[in-house]
Amino acid sequence: MRELTRDHARRKQLEKADFRPPETTRVITVANQKGGVGKTSTAVNLAAALSMGGMNVLVIDADPQGNTSTALNIEHHAEVPSIYEVLVESAPLIDVVQDVPDLERLSCAPATINLSGAEIELVSLVARENRLRNAIRDYLEARDEQGLPRLDYVLIDCPPSLGLLTVNALVAAREVLIPIQAEYYALEGLSLLLNNIDLIRQHLNPELVVSSIMLTMYDARTRLAAQVAQDVRDHFPDQTLETSIPRSVRISEAPSYGQTVLTYDPGSSGALAYRAAAHELTIRPAP
Ligand SMILES: Nc1ncnc2c1ncn2[C@@H]1O[C@H](COP(=O)(O)OP(=O)(O)OP(=O)(O)O)[C@@H](O)[C@H]1O
Ligand SMILES: [Mg+2]
Repeated sequence: MRELTRDHARRKQLEKADFRPPETTRVITVANQKGGVGKTSTAVNLAAALSMGGMNVLVIDADPQGNTSTALNIEHHAEVPSIYEVLVESAPLIDVVQDVPDLERLSCAPATINLSGAEIELVSLVARENRLRNAIRDYLEARDEQGLPRLDYVLIDCPPSLGLLTVNALVAAREVLIPIQAEYYALEGLSLLLNNIDLIRQHLNPELVVSSIMLTMYDARTRLAAQVAQDVRDHFPDQTLETSIPRSVRISEAPSYGQTVLTYDPGSSGALAYRAAAHELTIRPAP
């Protein structure tokens, strides 16, 4: 009942919500070295929600698992030019970006299985931590030269590790969004991530900030989830988004149909939550 009331309120609010483009392209890395916390679901569904709100959005799949590419129905077998070629062979990003079917303003730079070798191959390359940053900068320029519309958001999905792929993603972005699963071990490992972010800020990317923390797979019926959510809000009062993402079967089903939850079941509580979170992201002041 509580959920129905919340969904109804969300639907009403979203009817009048408009998405205003940011002043400059916002590059946001979705990171947490803990596996299965909802990084990919968040990157994909936020990107879909932003694009449906009229924003021009690129999602970069920086995870060799290629889950983002699968969820967005983007071809990503081993021969497809991908973020691997961008990082390791200096291919221009513009050559690997694909349009996402069904979502007009959304595009994706896919990851293929080749990317699993990149962690090691990158080690010996010059400017190994800056390769994604440089590729995005060149891509934004190339779009401009070709008269393509400016990108409003670039979202980068990370693998569950703190290796060179995640480092590249953190150097490329201005903002980090950390999804946290509302369960017992949620905060464990978070200090390691925050330490790494501090190190990157000190040495490689002085502008980097943790702009948003998002509670995922939130089950309002359990006291534990409420307790974890409260802990997260107490620790990060300014960063934690008001909107948390409920545990929803629709969110987990959508990728097997090559869809986002927004296209798969637009009226579901998961879709409404991601739309509300996306809107919240656009109205919070960009750091
Ligand atoms: N809100 C949700 N409700 C129900 N299931 C969810 C929700 N969010 C994610 N899932 C499911 O949980 C699993 C992990 O989610 P996801 O792949 O987004 O996490 P991840 O952090 O990207 O994982 P990895 O670390 O492997 O990259 C997936 O099966 C996904 O479908
Ligand atoms: Mg993932």
